[in-house]
Amino acid sequence: MFQRFRRTRFNKHLRALVRETTVSVDDFIYPLFIRSGEGIKTEVSSMPGVYQMSIDEILKECVELKQLGIYSIILFGIPDVKDSIGSDSLCEHGIIASSIRTIKKHHPDMFIVTDLCFCEYTDHGHCGIIDEKNETVNNDATLEISGQQAVIHAKAGADMIAPSGMMDGIIETLRDALDKAGFENLPIMSYSTKFASGYYGPFRDVAESTPSFGDRASYQMDPANRREAINESISDEKQGADILMVKPALAYLDIVREIKDNTSLPMAVYNVSGEYAMLKIAQKHNLIDYERVVMETMISFKRAGADIIISYHAKEVALMLQKK
Ligand code: PBG
Ligand code: ZN
Repeated sequence: MFQRFRRTRFNKHLRALVRETTVSVDDFIYPLFIRSGEGIKTEVSSMPGVYQMSIDEILKECVELKQLGIYSIILFGIPDVKDSIGSDSLCEHGIIASSIRTIKKHHPDMFIVTDLCFCEYTDHGHCGIIDEKNETVNNDATLEISGQQAVIHAKAGADMIAPSGMMDGIIETLRDALDKAGFENLPIMSYSTKFASGYYGPFRDVAESTPSFGDRASYQMDPANRREAINESISDEKQGADILMVKPALAYLDIVREIKDNTSLPMAVYNVSGEYAMLKIAQKHNLIDYERVVMETMISFKRAGADIIISYHAKEVALMLQKK
């Protein structure tokens, strides 16, 4: 048989025709951090370009996002008052519920995802109710109030709920609570495989959610475990999750690919705060061709199997795609 060893060189048109992976502005969800007050837009020192904003600034931000073609956001609330059970997140006048209503009123075309957790709302900074005795999170007590938080989000007008606390049985619990409250068609995107990671450092500055004692290793996953990571996502699929997620993204692309090959659900990656901060600091010191590296990183997520990218780079990427 004739074998030709020299590959035919493709020109740029043909390279575009055969490209296997593309990045589009439609792939992105942009994270926003909301606090009470007016005229507040405070940059996070570890994350240049990321701000804590009051609702009036958030509304302006939505205008800008839509101009860039970004219609999906994920909301994180920073409450005025934190307590042991995160009451602010369970109240229809809390920071998240009131923000959802205001955003929906002014921007009904925005797709609002809510991060459902307790660490931003509790004074101890853990992702649920603490067991007085052993100082770890009480899984089942947390499930109960998680159902309440989901219904608060849903009634306020959220378009998708994203539980991030890694409690066992959370998807089943939320699905049941939402169905019973009449929200049978509200989708759940699970932070289904979430590692106990050092890459969340800058986020905890912006969300003011560093645990006051201990760490999250009892409920988040061990970075060393591949099989456990797959099982967690598959378990959430069985419980009724609509979308699965791997978080962080960059150090776990092998896990993204393997889950993708074992599920038919859409998949998201969370390109987290520490990953963003690393590229930003490299940009500041002129160590890399920043835009090129950002785009290469986004391509790697899609190539690994992600359908959705949650990223602080979303606005920059949208601009890059417009220039192209
Ligand atoms: C809340 C939550 C966290 C992140 C998303 N949702 C913090 C954490 O688990 O400590 C991290 C996002 C990031 O680092 O950008 N549970
Ligand atoms: Zn949490």
